Amino acid sequence: MTKLFNKAKAFVHTCYQELGMEDKIEERLAVIKQEIEATDFYEHTFIELEHGAKMAWRNANKCIGRLFWQTLTVRDARLCTDEEGIFDELRTHLRLATNGGKIKPMMTFFAPRKQGKEPVRVLNHQLVRYAGYEEEGTRIIGDPASLALTKLCESLGWQGEQSAFDVLPLVIKLPGGRVKWRDLPKNEVLRVPIRHPDTDKLDNLQLEWYAVPAITDMMVEIGGIEYPTVPFNGWYMGTEIGARNFADEKRYDLLPQVAKALDLDKTKTSSLWKDKALVELNRAVLYSFQQKGVSIVDHHTAAEQFKQFEKREKASGRPLTGTWSWLIPPMSPAATHIFHQNYQDELLSPNFHYQERLFQENGCLK
Ligand code: ARG
Repeated sequence: MTKLFNKAKAFVHTCYQELGMEDKIEERLAVIKQEIEATDFYEHTFIELEHGAKMAWRNANKCIGRLFWQTLTVRDARLCTDEEGIFDELRTHLRLATNGGKIKPMMTFFAPRKQGKEPVRVLNHQLVRYAGYEEEGTRIIGDPASLALTKLCESLGWQGEQSAFDVLPLVIKLPGGRVKWRDLPKNEVLRVPIRHPDTDKLDNLQLEWYAVPAITDMMVEIGGIEYPTVPFNGWYMGTEIGARNFADEKRYDLLPQVAKALDLDKTKTSSLWKDKALVELNRAVLYSFQQKGVSIVDHHTAAEQFKQFEKREKASGRPLTGTWSWLIPPMSPAATHIFHQNYQDELLSPNFHYQERLFQENGCLK
Protein backbone atom coordinates (compact mmCIF):
# COMPACT_ATOMS: atom_id res chain seq x y z
CA MET A 1 0.00 0.00 0.00
CA THR A 2 2.54 2.64 1.10
CA LYS A 3 4.84 1.46 -1.67
CA LEU A 4 2.24 2.05 -4.37
CA PHE A 5 1.20 5.34 -2.84
CA ASN A 6 4.80 6.56 -2.79
CA LYS A 7 5.16 5.78 -6.48
CA ALA A 8 1.85 7.48 -7.23
CA LYS A 9 2.95 10.50 -5.24
CA ALA A 10 6.25 10.88 -7.06
CA PHE A 11 4.51 10.54 -10.42
CA VAL A 12 1.63 12.92 -9.67
CA HIS A 13 4.05 15.56 -8.41
CA THR A 14 6.19 15.52 -11.57
CA CYS A 15 3.26 15.06 -13.93
CA TYR A 16 1.14 17.86 -12.49
CA GLN A 17 4.12 20.20 -12.23
CA GLU A 18 5.01 19.67 -15.87
CA LEU A 19 1.39 20.31 -16.86
CA GLY A 20 1.08 23.45 -14.75
CA MET A 21 -1.50 21.82 -12.47
CA GLU A 22 0.39 22.17 -9.16
CA ASP A 23 -2.73 23.48 -7.42
CA LYS A 24 -4.46 20.11 -7.99
CA ILE A 25 -1.76 17.88 -6.51
CA GLU A 26 -2.91 17.61 -2.88
CA GLU A 27 -6.55 17.07 -3.78
CA ARG A 28 -5.64 14.35 -6.26
CA LEU A 29 -3.28 12.59 -3.87
CA ALA A 30 -5.99 12.46 -1.20
CA VAL A 31 -8.30 10.67 -3.65
CA ILE A 32 -5.55 8.27 -4.73
CA LYS A 33 -4.72 7.50 -1.11
CA GLN A 34 -8.32 6.57 -0.34
CA GLU A 35 -8.56 4.45 -3.47
CA ILE A 36 -5.36 2.56 -2.68
CA GLU A 37 -6.49 1.95 0.90
CA ALA A 38 -9.77 0.50 -0.30
CA THR A 39 -8.63 -1.45 -3.39
CA ASP A 40 -4.81 -1.62 -3.41
CA PHE A 41 -5.01 0.10 -6.80
CA TYR A 42 -5.77 3.49 -8.29
CA GLU A 43 -7.06 4.49 -11.67
CA HIS A 44 -5.23 7.07 -13.77
CA THR A 45 -7.18 9.96 -15.21
CA PHE A 46 -6.77 10.31 -18.97
CA ILE A 47 -4.51 13.31 -18.48
CA GLU A 48 -2.23 11.26 -16.22
CA LEU A 49 -2.23 8.37 -18.67
CA GLU A 50 -1.43 10.63 -21.59
CA HIS A 51 1.37 12.54 -19.91
CA GLY A 52 2.69 9.41 -18.18
CA ALA A 53 2.99 7.73 -21.58
CA LYS A 54 4.91 10.69 -22.94
CA MET A 55 7.22 10.63 -19.92
CA ALA A 56 7.82 6.91 -20.46
CA TRP A 57 8.93 7.65 -24.04
CA ARG A 58 11.12 10.51 -22.82
CA ASN A 59 12.73 8.07 -20.35
CA ALA A 60 13.20 5.24 -22.87
CA ASN A 61 16.98 4.91 -22.69
CA LYS A 62 17.29 2.79 -25.80
CA CYS A 63 15.34 5.13 -28.09
CA ILE A 64 17.14 7.57 -30.40
CA GLY A 65 13.82 9.13 -31.50
CA ARG A 66 12.88 10.75 -28.20
CA LEU A 67 12.92 14.35 -29.49
CA PHE A 68 9.30 13.79 -30.50
CA TRP A 69 7.99 12.53 -27.14
CA GLN A 70 5.44 15.32 -26.86
CA THR A 71 3.80 14.42 -30.18
CA LEU A 72 2.62 11.01 -28.96
CA THR A 73 -1.07 10.27 -29.54
CA VAL A 74 -2.46 8.30 -26.60
CA ARG A 75 -5.56 6.13 -26.96
CA ASP A 76 -7.54 4.77 -24.02
CA ALA A 77 -8.89 1.21 -24.40
CA ARG A 78 -8.65 0.32 -20.73
CA LEU A 79 -12.29 -0.70 -20.55
CA CYS A 80 -12.09 -2.89 -23.63
CA THR A 81 -12.08 -6.53 -22.47
CA ASP A 82 -14.07 -8.50 -25.04
CA GLU A 83 -12.48 -10.42 -27.89
CA GLU A 84 -14.10 -8.48 -30.73
CA GLY A 85 -13.39 -5.13 -29.13
CA ILE A 86 -9.74 -5.92 -28.49
CA PHE A 87 -9.05 -7.00 -32.09
CA ASP A 88 -10.90 -3.89 -33.24
CA GLU A 89 -8.75 -1.63 -31.08
CA LEU A 90 -5.53 -3.23 -32.32
CA ARG A 91 -6.61 -2.83 -35.94
CA THR A 92 -7.70 0.74 -35.34
CA HIS A 93 -4.35 1.53 -33.74
CA LEU A 94 -2.54 0.25 -36.83
CA ARG A 95 -4.83 2.16 -39.20
CA LEU A 96 -4.57 5.47 -37.34
CA ALA A 97 -0.81 5.12 -36.78
CA THR A 98 -0.22 4.24 -40.44
CA ASN A 99 -2.14 7.35 -41.45
CA GLY A 100 -1.69 6.69 -45.17
CA GLY A 101 2.11 6.65 -44.78
CA LYS A 102 2.53 9.80 -42.70
CA ILE A 103 3.12 7.74 -39.57
CA LYS A 104 1.84 9.00 -36.22
CA PRO A 105 3.61 7.98 -32.99
CA MET A 106 0.84 6.31 -31.00
CA MET A 107 0.16 4.29 -27.87
CA THR A 108 -3.03 2.40 -26.96
CA PHE A 109 -3.60 1.46 -23.33
CA PHE A 110 -5.48 -1.70 -22.43
CA ALA A 111 -6.39 -2.71 -18.86
CA PRO A 112 -3.66 -2.44 -16.22
CA ARG A 113 -2.56 -5.26 -13.93
CA LYS A 114 -4.86 -5.49 -10.90
CA GLN A 115 -4.73 -7.88 -7.96
CA GLY A 116 -6.66 -11.03 -8.67
CA LYS A 117 -7.59 -9.95 -12.20
CA GLU A 118 -5.54 -11.01 -15.19
CA PRO A 119 -5.79 -8.43 -17.97
CA VAL A 120 -5.64 -9.12 -21.72
CA ARG A 121 -2.24 -9.79 -23.29
CA VAL A 122 -1.03 -9.63 -26.88
CA LEU A 123 1.32 -12.51 -27.73
CA ASN A 124 2.81 -10.89 -30.84
CA HIS A 125 6.09 -9.00 -30.59
CA GLN A 126 4.77 -6.31 -32.96
CA LEU A 127 1.35 -5.65 -34.52
CA VAL A 128 2.90 -6.45 -37.90
CA ARG A 129 5.67 -9.01 -38.26
CA TYR A 130 6.57 -11.68 -40.75
CA ALA A 131 6.25 -15.40 -40.06
CA GLY A 132 9.26 -17.71 -39.98
CA TYR A 133 9.13 -21.36 -41.08
CA GLU A 134 11.71 -24.04 -40.47
CA GLU A 135 12.07 -26.25 -43.52
CA GLU A 136 13.52 -29.78 -43.53
CA GLY A 137 17.10 -29.51 -42.31
CA THR A 138 18.13 -26.05 -41.27
CA ARG A 139 16.75 -23.81 -44.02
CA ILE A 140 14.45 -21.10 -42.75
CA ILE A 141 11.88 -19.23 -44.79
CA GLY A 142 10.84 -15.79 -43.58
CA ASP A 143 11.90 -14.17 -40.32
CA PRO A 144 13.81 -16.52 -37.99
CA ALA A 145 12.85 -14.26 -35.07
CA SER A 146 9.22 -15.38 -35.55
CA LEU A 147 9.74 -19.17 -35.50
CA ALA A 148 8.15 -19.74 -32.08
CA LEU A 149 5.13 -17.49 -32.62
CA THR A 150 4.60 -18.95 -36.10
CA LYS A 151 4.52 -22.45 -34.59
CA LEU A 152 2.01 -21.29 -32.01
CA CYS A 153 -0.18 -19.70 -34.72
CA GLU A 154 -0.11 -22.91 -36.76
CA SER A 155 -1.09 -24.94 -33.71
CA LEU A 156 -4.09 -22.64 -33.33
CA GLY A 157 -5.19 -23.36 -36.90
CA TRP A 158 -3.59 -20.47 -38.80
CA GLN A 159 -1.90 -21.27 -42.09
CA GLY A 160 0.65 -19.04 -43.80
CA GLU A 161 1.56 -18.99 -47.47
CA GLN A 162 5.16 -20.04 -46.74
CA SER A 163 6.49 -16.87 -48.36
CA ALA A 164 9.39 -14.84 -46.94
CA PHE A 165 6.98 -12.06 -45.99
CA ASP A 166 3.75 -13.54 -44.60
CA VAL A 167 2.17 -11.18 -42.09
CA LEU A 168 1.40 -13.07 -38.87
CA PRO A 169 -2.10 -12.89 -37.39
CA LEU A 170 -2.75 -11.07 -34.12
CA VAL A 171 -2.83 -13.44 -31.15
CA ILE A 172 -4.33 -12.44 -27.81
CA LYS A 173 -4.83 -14.09 -24.44
CA LEU A 174 -8.12 -13.03 -22.92
CA PRO A 175 -8.78 -12.52 -19.23
CA GLY A 176 -9.56 -16.05 -18.13
CA GLY A 177 -6.93 -17.61 -20.37
CA ARG A 178 -8.56 -18.27 -23.75
CA VAL A 179 -6.17 -17.65 -26.67
CA LYS A 180 -7.66 -16.20 -29.88
CA TRP A 181 -6.20 -15.15 -33.22
CA ARG A 182 -7.35 -12.99 -36.11
CA ASP A 183 -5.70 -12.08 -39.44
CA LEU A 184 -5.08 -8.41 -40.13
CA PRO A 185 -6.96 -7.38 -43.29
CA LYS A 186 -4.36 -7.30 -46.10
CA ASN A 187 -5.34 -3.83 -47.27
CA GLU A 188 -4.73 -2.44 -43.77
CA VAL A 189 -1.06 -3.45 -43.59
CA LEU A 190 1.03 -0.89 -45.45
CA ARG A 191 4.07 -2.58 -47.02
CA VAL A 192 6.96 -1.15 -48.97
CA PRO A 193 8.61 -3.08 -51.84
CA ILE A 194 12.38 -2.46 -51.68
CA ARG A 195 14.04 -1.05 -54.82
CA HIS A 196 17.49 0.45 -55.24
CA PRO A 197 17.59 4.06 -56.55
CA ASP A 198 20.10 3.38 -59.34
CA THR A 199 20.20 -0.31 -60.15
CA ASP A 200 17.64 -3.04 -60.73
CA LYS A 201 20.12 -5.70 -59.56
CA LEU A 202 18.34 -6.05 -56.20
CA ASP A 203 14.89 -6.51 -57.74
CA ASN A 204 15.22 -10.29 -57.99
CA LEU A 205 15.53 -10.55 -54.22
CA GLN A 206 11.90 -9.38 -54.03
CA LEU A 207 12.34 -7.68 -50.70
CA GLU A 208 9.73 -5.73 -48.81
CA TRP A 209 9.19 -4.41 -45.29
CA TYR A 210 6.14 -3.12 -43.44
CA ALA A 211 5.64 0.56 -42.67
CA VAL A 212 4.83 0.67 -38.95
CA PRO A 213 7.00 -0.78 -36.16
CA ALA A 214 4.48 -1.23 -33.32
CA ILE A 215 5.81 -3.10 -30.28
CA THR A 216 3.13 -5.14 -28.50
CA ASP A 217 4.97 -7.21 -25.89
CA MET A 218 6.42 -4.61 -23.53
CA MET A 219 4.96 -3.34 -20.25
CA VAL A 220 4.66 0.32 -19.36
CA GLU A 221 4.83 1.38 -15.71
CA ILE A 222 3.34 4.73 -14.66
CA GLY A 223 3.19 5.81 -11.03
CA GLY A 224 3.38 2.22 -9.79
CA ILE A 225 0.60 0.96 -12.07
CA GLU A 226 1.65 -1.63 -14.67
CA TYR A 227 0.14 -1.80 -18.14
CA PRO A 228 1.15 -5.14 -19.70
CA THR A 229 -0.69 -4.48 -22.95
CA VAL A 230 0.10 -1.19 -24.54
CA PRO A 231 0.95 -1.29 -28.26
CA PHE A 232 3.13 1.67 -29.22
CA ASN A 233 4.86 2.83 -32.36
CA GLY A 234 7.02 5.49 -33.94
CA TRP A 235 8.41 5.37 -37.47
CA TYR A 236 11.43 3.40 -38.64
CA MET A 237 15.04 4.48 -38.71
CA GLY A 238 16.35 2.93 -41.95
CA THR A 239 19.14 0.91 -40.32
CA GLU A 240 16.65 -1.06 -38.19
CA ILE A 241 15.54 -2.71 -41.41
CA GLY A 242 18.62 -2.48 -43.66
CA ALA A 243 21.37 -3.12 -41.13
CA ARG A 244 19.57 -5.45 -38.69
CA ASN A 245 16.36 -7.12 -39.88
CA PHE A 246 17.77 -7.77 -43.36
CA ALA A 247 21.43 -8.12 -42.41
CA ASP A 248 21.75 -9.98 -39.09
CA GLU A 249 22.83 -13.57 -39.59
CA LYS A 250 20.08 -14.62 -37.20
CA ARG A 251 17.45 -12.67 -39.18
CA TYR A 252 17.10 -12.50 -42.99
CA ASP A 253 20.91 -12.79 -43.41
CA LEU A 254 20.85 -11.11 -46.82
CA LEU A 255 24.36 -9.62 -47.12
CA PRO A 256 25.79 -12.55 -49.11
CA GLN A 257 22.86 -12.43 -51.56
CA VAL A 258 23.04 -8.67 -51.90
CA ALA A 259 26.80 -8.84 -52.51
CA LYS A 260 26.27 -11.49 -55.17
CA ALA A 261 23.55 -9.48 -56.88
CA LEU A 262 25.85 -6.43 -56.93
CA ASP A 263 28.85 -8.46 -58.21
CA LEU A 264 31.00 -7.60 -55.19
CA ASP A 265 34.26 -9.42 -54.52
CA LYS A 266 33.39 -11.92 -51.81
CA THR A 267 36.70 -13.79 -51.98
CA LYS A 268 38.30 -11.61 -49.33
CA THR A 269 36.79 -9.75 -46.39
CA SER A 270 39.20 -6.87 -47.06
CA SER A 271 37.26 -6.01 -50.20
CA LEU A 272 34.72 -4.76 -47.62
CA TRP A 273 31.93 -6.47 -49.53
CA LYS A 274 29.80 -6.66 -46.41
CA ASP A 275 30.13 -2.94 -45.80
CA LYS A 276 29.37 -2.13 -49.45
CA ALA A 277 26.35 -4.43 -49.42
CA LEU A 278 25.14 -2.79 -46.21
CA VAL A 279 25.36 0.69 -47.67
CA GLU A 280 23.50 -0.19 -50.86
CA LEU A 281 20.84 -2.17 -49.02
CA ASN A 282 20.27 0.72 -46.64
CA ARG A 283 20.11 3.23 -49.49
CA ALA A 284 17.46 1.01 -51.06
CA VAL A 285 15.41 0.90 -47.84
CA LEU A 286 15.44 4.69 -47.39
CA TYR A 287 14.75 5.35 -51.07
CA SER A 288 11.85 2.88 -51.24
CA PHE A 289 10.09 4.27 -48.15
CA GLN A 290 10.54 7.83 -49.42
CA GLN A 291 9.23 6.91 -52.88
CA LYS A 292 6.13 5.38 -51.36
CA GLY A 293 5.54 8.35 -49.09
CA VAL A 294 6.09 6.37 -45.89
CA SER A 295 7.79 8.13 -42.94
CA ILE A 296 11.35 6.97 -42.27
CA VAL A 297 14.50 8.62 -40.91
CA ASP A 298 18.16 7.99 -41.80
CA HIS A 299 20.57 7.46 -38.91
CA HIS A 300 22.46 10.73 -39.42
CA THR A 301 19.27 12.78 -39.19
CA ALA A 302 18.08 10.72 -36.23
CA ALA A 303 21.37 11.39 -34.41
CA GLU A 304 21.01 15.13 -35.06
CA GLN A 305 17.48 14.98 -33.68
CA PHE A 306 18.76 13.17 -30.63
CA LYS A 307 21.33 15.94 -30.14
CA GLN A 308 18.42 18.41 -30.08
CA PHE A 309 16.67 16.25 -27.51
CA GLU A 310 19.82 16.24 -25.35
CA LYS A 311 19.93 20.05 -25.49
CA ARG A 312 16.27 20.43 -24.60
CA GLU A 313 16.50 18.04 -21.67
CA LYS A 314 19.48 19.93 -20.36
CA ALA A 315 17.64 23.23 -20.74
CA SER A 316 14.64 21.93 -18.81
CA GLY A 317 16.89 20.74 -15.99
CA ARG A 318 16.10 17.05 -16.37
CA PRO A 319 18.78 14.38 -16.24
CA LEU A 320 19.50 12.73 -19.59
CA THR A 321 19.63 8.95 -19.44
CA GLY A 322 20.48 6.55 -22.26
CA THR A 323 21.88 3.15 -23.21
CA TRP A 324 24.92 3.85 -25.38
CA SER A 325 25.01 0.43 -27.06
CA TRP A 326 21.42 0.89 -28.24
CA LEU A 327 21.63 4.56 -29.14
CA ILE A 328 24.57 4.25 -31.55
CA PRO A 329 23.29 3.31 -35.01
CA PRO A 330 24.46 -0.07 -36.34
CA MET A 331 26.04 1.61 -39.40
CA SER A 332 28.85 4.17 -39.25
CA PRO A 333 28.27 4.80 -35.54
CA ALA A 334 31.43 6.90 -35.15
CA ALA A 335 30.07 9.32 -37.77
CA THR A 336 27.46 10.42 -35.20
CA HIS A 337 28.08 12.40 -32.01
CA ILE A 338 26.43 9.66 -29.94
CA PHE A 339 29.44 7.37 -30.36
CA HIS A 340 31.73 9.93 -28.77
CA GLN A 341 29.66 10.47 -25.68
CA ASN A 342 28.73 8.75 -22.44
CA TYR A 343 25.19 8.26 -21.21
CA GLN A 344 23.89 7.50 -17.73
CA ASP A 345 21.91 4.24 -18.11
CA GLU A 346 19.61 4.83 -15.16
CA LEU A 347 16.03 3.61 -15.29
CA LEU A 348 13.63 6.44 -14.49
CA SER A 349 9.86 6.11 -14.02
CA PRO A 350 7.53 6.07 -15.94
CA ASN A 351 9.20 3.64 -18.32
CA PHE A 352 9.04 0.60 -20.61
CA HIS A 353 9.93 -2.86 -19.34
CA TYR A 354 10.41 -6.31 -20.81
CA GLN A 355 8.04 -8.94 -19.45
CA GLU A 356 7.68 -12.68 -19.54
CA ARG A 357 6.74 -14.15 -22.92
CA LEU A 358 3.61 -16.31 -22.74
CA PHE A 359 4.83 -19.09 -25.03
CA GLN A 360 7.89 -21.27 -25.36
CA GLU A 361 10.49 -21.70 -28.10
CA ASN A 362 8.58 -24.76 -29.39
CA GLY A 363 5.42 -22.72 -29.82
CA CYS A 364 3.59 -24.17 -26.83
CA LEU A 365 1.82 -21.90 -24.37
CA LYS A 366 3.43 -21.64 -20.96
N1 ARG B 1 13.87 -2.56 -34.28
C1 ARG B 1 12.50 -3.00 -34.40
C2 ARG B 1 12.24 -3.49 -35.83
O1 ARG B 1 13.11 -3.43 -36.64
C3 ARG B 1 11.52 -1.89 -34.07
C4 ARG B 1 11.72 -1.20 -32.73
C5 ARG B 1 11.02 0.15 -32.62
N2 ARG B 1 11.50 1.04 -33.63
C6 ARG B 1 11.04 2.28 -33.86
N3 ARG B 1 11.55 2.96 -34.83
N4 ARG B 1 10.07 2.79 -33.12
O2 ARG B 1 11.17 -3.91 -36.16
